[in-house]
Formats: sequence, structure tokens, C-alpha cells
Amino acid sequence: MKITVGVEGLVDRVRSKDAVCGVVGLGYVGLPLAYELARAGYRVLGFDISERTVRQVNGGESHIRDVSSAALAEVVGPSGLEATTDMSRLAECDTISICVPTPLSKTRDPDVSYVASAASAIAAALRAGQLVVLESTTYPGTTRDLVLPLLERSGLKVGVDFYLCFSPERVDPGNPTWHTVNTPKVIGGITPACLEAGRALYSQVIERVVPVSSTEAAELTKLLENTFRSINIALVNEMAQVADRLGVDVWEVIDAAATKPFGFMKFVPGPGIGGHCIPLDPYYLVWKMKTLDYKTRMVELAGEINAEMPRFVVNKVQDGLNRHRRSVSGSRILVLGVAYKRDIDDIRESPALDVVRLLAERGAELRYHDPYVPVLEEDGVRRTSVELTDEELAAADCVVITTDHSVIDYERVVRLARLVVDTRNATRGLEGGDVVGLGGHGVEAGSGAAAPTLAAAGS
Ligand SMILES: NC(=O)c1ccc[n+]([C@@H]2O[C@H](COP(=O)([O-])OP(=O)(O)OC[C@H]3O[C@@H](n4cnc5c(N)ncnc54)[C@H](O)[C@@H]3O)[C@@H](O)[C@H]2O)c1
Repeated sequence: MKITVGVEGLVDRVRSKDAVCGVVGLGYVGLPLAYELARAGYRVLGFDISERTVRQVNGGESHIRDVSSAALAEVVGPSGLEATTDMSRLAECDTISICVPTPLSKTRDPDVSYVASAASAIAAALRAGQLVVLESTTYPGTTRDLVLPLLERSGLKVGVDFYLCFSPERVDPGNPTWHTVNTPKVIGGITPACLEAGRALYSQVIERVVPVSSTEAAELTKLLENTFRSINIALVNEMAQVADRLGVDVWEVIDAAATKPFGFMKFVPGPGIGGHCIPLDPYYLVWKMKTLDYKTRMVELAGEINAEMPRFVVNKVQDGLNRHRRSVSGSRILVLGVAYKRDIDDIRESPALDVVRLLAERGAELRYHDPYVPVLEEDGVRRTSVELTDEELAAADCVVITTDHSVIDYERVVRLARLVVDTRNATRGLEGGDVVGLGGHGVEAGSGAAAPTLAAAGS
């Protein structure tokens, strides 16, 4: 006979901290969540298919910068966080949060195979009274149309025997202010009982939980947030190109616009978009809407504009070198920063990789420095980060600032480099040097090697 456990029993176990919490996928999202659950007093089982990750976590060694090894070591142990590759142990968990990757295929279609495989593993161990929460970013309908049928193959019924929610992760790696605990968390359940169970869990570790009426609403909330960013970044990236042609400093314009106390939100241009979210997530929506015979025009256009930015940067390098009577081919170019944003080590979808590839294709003698990325393996080529010595800076025909890591001394870069292409406004306010920004640097065509005004001196 099937045993049915009411939601009250689960909520009680969660509130009394007797519940065992499972986290599937111990990456940028899963490890901080597992850590916070353990810190809140739960016994936590972390599941990963990577033996290496499991070994590292159990050894108190963190591979995610947002959780220090010292902090992780404090919660690792049989009564705190324990990592495993043994998926049959999912049966030990009262709650299971799924934090596996949701990449795109080569044709830019959603690849939900990791979610499907995690859900199948959970289905094989599913028992009455468990809560399952999908956190991976995905298209609206994934929780109900993909995960739910896999779980119900067990013969158990959602909302009665087990509970299923979607709650998008909003982690912003490297953000010193907003982290797992103080970032409000949206959650939607398949049934009201599912939502109740999900709210009970997350309100133990997250300061504010925001319930919505369905899993689809929660899924679309995440896509709205990231599409909003993609479109606004595309707008300022286009504005950089507009300002460039007008000979206006785009950074000055953005800072001036940002003094408006209402109706404007500041976004800044750059070499393109990177990371596991902004370049990918909007295509989950594009794909879903295609199945409903709707073309998401703004979303796709924003993706195109952002994807073209590395070429714009390379054109800036080419123009700058021309003024020095040099070609890209044969020039020694130092790329400064390959991570997709400041002060992190994540290179996924980093626009700097496109800049590196495009310059290498044009015959540049390419070198890079990134304090957080010692080795870069792309397109079968292995490069190692060079030391940022005075000699290295002086020997480069051009230094391209693609990531504005805060540990870099940009005054030294500007002073020693012959030519700097600054895509991040990192050299703002610095005097001297030949610095080219992304928008309106004020060099007249054919004006020789005269130093242009600092585009980056916007603020
Ligand atoms: N990284 C971010 O900043 C961020 C922010 C918000 C949302 N997200 C979303 O969160 C999800 C996870 O992203 P991430 O950056 O943490 O990914 P990640 O690659 O850092 O981590 C995923 C982990 O899942 C493991 N894994 C893969 N398949 C598995 C399986 N079947 N069972 C168990 N473990 C498995 C991998 O080995 C890896 O350790 C994605 O959907 C992503 O879009 C990421």
C-alpha cells in the first residue's frame, strides 16, 4: 500500500531542522545553496556527477569563489554537508534542489538533458513526503511538462505524495552585497501544497521568499530578468557605436543620463556579454515562443547586437594600430582580462574569448593576463597568463582591456603601454597615454599617432 505523507509533516521537519536537504549539482549555484543550508543547521547531501567536485567538497576545498574553503570546511562533515556521486542516496533527502546546467545546443536550442537526467535519478529514488525544486534557468513549462512526468513515473502523485516547485536562482557571482541569503527568491508550485512546502524550506535560509501562482510564472520571471539585462546592455552597446560615430563620449552621456532620478536605469557598454546566464537564457524564451508561433523580435535583436561587440572591439584595435602605422597581423597584443566580468574566474561565454580568437585569426601575436585565469584553453590552443610586468606592458603594440579586474593598476597600464583599447572605461580619469575607448574617442581619421582624448574619462 502507498504511504501518503501530508505537507504538514514535511513543513514540520523543515522548520525543526530535522529535514535532510539534498542539492543536485554543486556548481556556482548549488554549492552556495548547500553551504547556506548546512550553515542554517540542516544535514545536507550534495550530489554531483563529477568525482573531482565531490572529492574537493568533502575535503573542504571550494571551487567556487563565493564560498571560501575556510567557510566550507566548517560545515563539511556527517552532520553538516556531505557530497556524493551516489544518486541512490537521494532517497535519504526530504528536500531536493536541482541546480544543474542548462546550456544551449550548437543551434541555440535549449539543452535540458542535464535537468532530465537529474529528474530521472530523483524519480528512481522518489519516496512519499519529498519536496523537489528545480532551480536551473529554463523555458516556461519545463517543470510541469518535463520534470513532473518523469517524477510521476514513480507512481507517486504530485501535491499529494510529493511536492514540486520551480524557484529560479539569482546568484550574481562576485557581488559583495547581494548573495544567496539576502537576495529575494521567487517560487512557484505545481499545487498550493507544493508552494507551501517550497516556501517553508527557502524561508529558513533566505530573508525574503516571493511566492507566485505557478511554476510557469516563476520560470518566466527569471527569463524576464535576464532578457531585461540583455536588451538594456544591447541598447547601451548600440549607443556606444552611435556615440563613436558622433564623436561623443558615451560614458559621459550615460553618467549624465543617470542623474535623472526616475525612469532611467544605468547600464554600461562593453566588449559583449558573458557568463552562463545573459547570453543563453533569452534563447530559452526564443525557442519556447517559436513553438507557440511567436517571434521574440526584441530579444533576438539584442542578442545580435551584443554578439557583434567583439568585432567592434577588434575594429578599434585595428584603427588604433593603423595610427601607429602597424597592422594587426604581426603586432604583439596583450589582452587584459579574459573572465566575463570583473573580479571573477568564470570564462564561460566571455566576450574576451571572441576578441582573442578574432585577433589571433588576423595574425596577431597574442598574449593575455588574467589574475584569476592562469590557463586558457580555447579552440585547441592552450595559453597561459603572462605576468603583468613593466616590460610586458611596454613590449605590447596594443593592450586591450577586456575585463576590468580591480587588482590591476590601470595608471601603470596607461603610463607604459603604447596603445590601450579600453572596453570597460577602466582608465577613466587617468592622464596621458594613447587610450581608445568604445565610444567617441575623438580621433580624426588620418590624424596620425596623436594621442586621442580619453573616451574612458567619462566619469
Ligand atoms: N552561474 C550563475 O551565475 C547562475 C546564476 C543564476 C542561475 N544560474 C542557473 O543555475 C543553473 C546551474 O548553473 P551553475 O552556474 O551553477 O552551473 P555549474 O556548471 O557551475 O554547476 C553545475 C554542476 O552540476 C553538475 N551536474 C551536471 N549534471 C548533473 C547531474 N545529472 N546530477 C548531478 N550533478 C550534475 C556538474 O558537474 C556541475 O558541478 C543553470 O541553469 C544556470 O543557468 C546560474
